Amino acid sequence: MDVLGLNFSPDAAAALVRDGEILAAATDERFTRKKHSRDFPAASMQYCLRHAGTDLAGIEAVAFFWNPGIHLQSFNVRLSAAMRHHAEYLYDVPNHLLAHYPGRWEETAVDYVEQRFALRGAARPLRIVYVSHHHAHAASAFFVSPFEEAAILTVDGYGEKTSALLGQGRGDRFSVLREIEFPQSLGAFYAAVTQYLGFSANCDEGKVMGLAAHGEPRFAEALGHIVRTQPDGGFEVDLSYFAYHQERPRRYAPKFLQAFGPDRRPDEPLEERHLDLAASAQKVLEDTLIHVARHLRQATGQKRLCLAGGVALNCVANSRILEEAGFEDAFIQPAAGDNGTSLGAALFVQHQLEGRPRRQVMTSDALGPSYTDEEIERELTEDRLRFERHDDIAAAAAERITAGDIIGWFQGRMEFGPRALGHRSILADPRRKDVKAVLDGRVKRREWFRPYAPSVLREAAAEYFDGPGDSPFMLKSHRVRPEKREAVPGIVHVDGSARVQTVDAAVQPLFHRLIAELGRRTGVPIVLNTSFNGQGETIVCTVRDALRCFTSTGLDALAIGRYLVRK
Ligand SMILES: [Fe+2]
Repeated sequence: MDVLGLNFSPDAAAALVRDGEILAAATDERFTRKKHSRDFPAASMQYCLRHAGTDLAGIEAVAFFWNPGIHLQSFNVRLSAAMRHHAEYLYDVPNHLLAHYPGRWEETAVDYVEQRFALRGAARPLRIVYVSHHHAHAASAFFVSPFEEAAILTVDGYGEKTSALLGQGRGDRFSVLREIEFPQSLGAFYAAVTQYLGFSANCDEGKVMGLAAHGEPRFAEALGHIVRTQPDGGFEVDLSYFAYHQERPRRYAPKFLQAFGPDRRPDEPLEERHLDLAASAQKVLEDTLIHVARHLRQATGQKRLCLAGGVALNCVANSRILEEAGFEDAFIQPAAGDNGTSLGAALFVQHQLEGRPRRQVMTSDALGPSYTDEEIERELTEDRLRFERHDDIAAAAAERITAGDIIGWFQGRMEFGPRALGHRSILADPRRKDVKAVLDGRVKRREWFRPYAPSVLREAAAEYFDGPGDSPFMLKSHRVRPEKREAVPGIVHVDGSARVQTVDAAVQPLFHRLIAELGRRTGVPIVLNTSFNGQGETIVCTVRDALRCFTSTGLDALAIGRYLVRK
């Protein structure tokens, strides 16, 4: 049974699941080169169908990441109570499905899909299933986790009306214990602070997390009165400080400005109070999540936790949840943001609705396109680039990194989630003190306050890092052991932490070999790993994207397939 999952909220994506096995999943921005695209995911959908060797006529069901029926209910409470707006609520629902096809007001999403793929008049109508947003997030984590049973926590800005879900999975199904309804929302709170600090909401939250380590949480007490935990395990946001629920351009209210001072414009310098507010918001987010997770641990008795939703991309919060909420182990969906709801919606249909048995543990998110050596060689030749073919590209790349080069590393299938995990990565030597300055200056032009992350051999991780276990998807923060900080200055954040990826030889043999080679040469089995893209760009997808990025930035070398290209 083939189910195609689609989402077209921010980070539009498609995923194809066959009998419980994920065949393909990709985020649309990588194909269209339009960052955080919320358009209909036509390109990633076509990729998934092609990769699976099928077409829409062969799909049993198309699973959508959103249930417009539930959304309709919530409009009545979300906006004002003025009667004159009620027609607009009704209008808004089909609009949500139509918004992506300008000028085609007579069409629904189903019409669009059918027409685009010449299915109109087909023998079998397309079966569309609208999966509620947080059910899709929950399914994306639990159904591909290694756990037979587990507690489930999903947290984001908002779904149709839910901003957090607490549940419990057993076997091939999960049940919902509680849902927290928008406008109560931790994701929306954090997005509002992100915007207040001069960054882009629902986009730059990771920057605020990076900034937080530079500040003192001296506003945490004040913010703690605005986001209050409740004895029943929930939380309550004092909405008089915010406007995120009122569809205004600014997500915070005048009262927030009175309490914390003027907001920052994007081009204004970052002052100490900005750093301190970031630290405070981060602390309040973490403390509230721990409170909710502890309650979930008690209510379910489960020792394991599945996490998803955009807030689960906050690796510092994830680590504190794992260390302080009483869980022994966790699975975090690598595409925890809304791209993952395409996959989750498909899994929901297969398991929760159809009762098919779970078959796959997601150990990797390399579910996107890959290119053969022949395809790569053809492009290299076309571009008249000088290249060498290596039987052992891992050793050749390790040699360049040890020699001080910053290299592009393009191998195998593209990652589904937002992190480059050794398939579309830029790699460098973490022992270099100046590596951040060099990378910032020559390739990434990243802000001074954002650290670079390490990938470490799984078996060597405990020697260098202290914290909550394996981290295959770079979604946890670890402490760098004090005695090792001198050895790897390129990846230590200002507070002594690092956003670690642990690399397992059984899952990523080639990337593991590269890091092992580095370890053999330098004594440090760690590589600095950042996403393969230039400033403001989305991560490279194709060979062409990689070559363009390589030639237009200050990368020294590129290891692409078996080929090493040098400038
Ligand atoms: Fe979401």
